[in-house]
Amino acid sequence: MSGFDANWLALREPFDAAARDGALAARFIAAVVERAAQRNRMPAVSTRVSWRPHACRLVDLAAGAGSNLRVLAPLLPGDQDWLLVDHDPELIAAQARELGRWAASRGWRCSVAEGGLVIDTGQAQWRVRARRLDLQGAFDQVQLGSFDGVTTTAFLDLVSETWLERLADRIAVAAVPLLATLTVDGRREWQPASDGDGAIAAAFEQHQQGDKGFGASLGAAAADSLRAMLDSCGCLTGIAQADWRVDRGGGTQAQTMLLRMVDESAAVAREVDPAAAAVFDQWAAFRRSQALAGSLSLRVGHQDLLALPGGPQA
Ligand SMILES: C[S@@+](CC[C@H](N)C(=O)[O-])C[C@H]1O[C@@H](n2cnc3c(N)ncnc32)[C@H](O)[C@@H]1O
Repeated sequence: MSGFDANWLALREPFDAAARDGALAARFIAAVVERAAQRNRMPAVSTRVSWRPHACRLVDLAAGAGSNLRVLAPLLPGDQDWLLVDHDPELIAAQARELGRWAASRGWRCSVAEGGLVIDTGQAQWRVRARRLDLQGAFDQVQLGSFDGVTTTAFLDLVSETWLERLADRIAVAAVPLLATLTVDGRREWQPASDGDGAIAAAFEQHQQGDKGFGASLGAAAADSLRAMLDSCGCLTGIAQADWRVDRGGGTQAQTMLLRMVDESAAVAREVDPAAAAVFDQWAAFRRSQALAGSLSLRVGHQDLLALPGGPQA
């Protein structure tokens, strides 16, 4: 439905995990833990009993099959309560499957309970609920202020400037920490360089600014733009490069990724400039042969962005 199938998200997951900036994640986690602690020190305003009120509450926007949780949950201490929001029912179905498989591979128990899944690591319990929602039309239905942290991965480059302004405003008003990881920044470096890389890159850049359901997207400019918006809302921000490195000789996984990236790049270029399809096909055939021979590497530029509520404590 969204064009992001679960197989593609699974293929990129280890490259995403390796690329992320650890220092920004650590600062995010410290802020989430502090906010949860502050909330727990305040007298309860509601008589509604929520699941493990002391648990850190996180929402992952455009969660796909749940890869963000799989990276961050093991880094956060104690019980956690996650809400995974996405508009694609197939990816929401994949969340339960992938989380179950992941938990089993670590010897953790995963059961259907408490209105979602509960993963029991032996040290802590993590509740994971899914919510199907269109973040373009219905973003306001997610009450950001009721969470201790907001996360999103590989999403910001799909949205419009107007949507990013909404996000920045809402993060500032809710005074909630945000970690937005792996936003593409437009850099794609094939090694060794070859004729045709420039034309492929230009087509990709043009495609990135297309409408992905939110109006014209900011594409490669998204992370820097959001950072400026958050700064002007009084948040404290940090940004770091988080590039995919798909190295020659990186084994079957790297080769599969390289072939996928070659095919995707050529398909995007053909869509943008059908008249030059033969040139792009030639480029793809050459790059595929290099990937299969183990002589191709690729670096894809991404940025991680952290925003903390302003004020002396941040
Ligand atoms: C590149 S994928 C990233 C998924 C996940 N965060 C990850 O890192 O694996 C982009 C995600 O945005 C979601 N998405 C796109 N448009 C959306 C919308 N209007 N509302 C909610 N989710 C949306 C897609 O369904 C997809 O899961």
